[in-house]
Amino acid sequence: MNSAMPLRVESLAKNFPSGPDWRQVVPVLRNRPRKIKVRPIDDVSFEIQRGEIYGIIGANGSGKSTLVRVLSTLLLPDSGLAEVFGYDVVREPAKVRPAINRVSADPSFFRSMSAIENLMFFGRVYGLKTSGIKSRAYDILDRLMLTEQQAREPMQNLSRGQQQKVAVARAFLTSPVLMLLDEPTTGLDPRSRREVQAFIQTVRRDHDATILLTTHDMQEADLLCDRIAVFSAGRIIAEGTPNQLRAMVAGDRPLEEVDMEEVYLELTGRSIEEDEETDD
Ligand SMILES: Nc1ncnc2c1ncn2[C@@H]1O[C@H](COP(=O)(O)OP(=O)(O)O)[C@@H](O)[C@H]1O
Ligand SMILES: [Mg+2]
Repeated sequence: MNSAMPLRVESLAKNFPSGPDWRQVVPVLRNRPRKIKVRPIDDVSFEIQRGEIYGIIGANGSGKSTLVRVLSTLLLPDSGLAEVFGYDVVREPAKVRPAINRVSADPSFFRSMSAIENLMFFGRVYGLKTSGIKSRAYDILDRLMLTEQQAREPMQNLSRGQQQKVAVARAFLTSPVLMLLDEPTTGLDPRSRREVQAFIQTVRRDHDATILLTTHDMQEADLLCDRIAVFSAGRIIAEGTPNQLRAMVAGDRPLEEVDMEEVYLELTGRSIEEDEETDD
């Protein structure tokens, strides 16, 4: 395997123009630059080491999914650099795609087909041999605590949590070396959430996977991640191991007394205050 860094992101930025593009209809506006209101990724830089679980925690709308879409070659960045195992996501998407897999919070499936049929289909799309896919699929679903009977139900009969497990299973059918898990446990009940979390830990341990995980659950980030980036309004406002982040807000207290949720609120609160100060 390529020995380059699984993921390197440097000064990455992505804007979305807001609202309708009036320049198309109002001639006097034609030569004006288009107004940009939404800046979901604003000068983001970080690296993920091989075998690491790197977490991005941030509120809804802080730009996590946009970042994951850019990294998975689904969206073009406006500026900056992102490399997956040394391949540029903009210039070499065909080299990047086989090395990554994405689980999104709203996965799409063939709803009238069963989980197994879906996994067979996607396995073939990924170029796997039919004979191997079925046993591998049942094996993964079993580890995620989805029964054989549930695996043969049409997907539309499964709960949202069960469907999310199938999405996780699909991402692990192939063995891509960089997993992009975009809020893989959002919307799951506590038991399913634990099962998916345990599965992520096993896969990292047994399969030498490198994982980028977004979440807004601080306990989850603390449990799973080697390092965490705190994301706020498209920027990384703090980065470090869970204990390094605790130390940033602990003051005189011992670290084990500092709850991750408090860390998040404190760090993002400070960043909002700083923004307000610089706006004046
Ligand atoms: N295709 C798009 N066009 C315009 N704005 C978008 C688009 N996709 C996302 N956004 C905006 O970008 C911001 C970040 O969204 P997103 O990356 O989905 O955040 P998160 O995943 O952290 O909840 C939001 O304000 C969202 O409304
Ligand atoms: Mg999102």
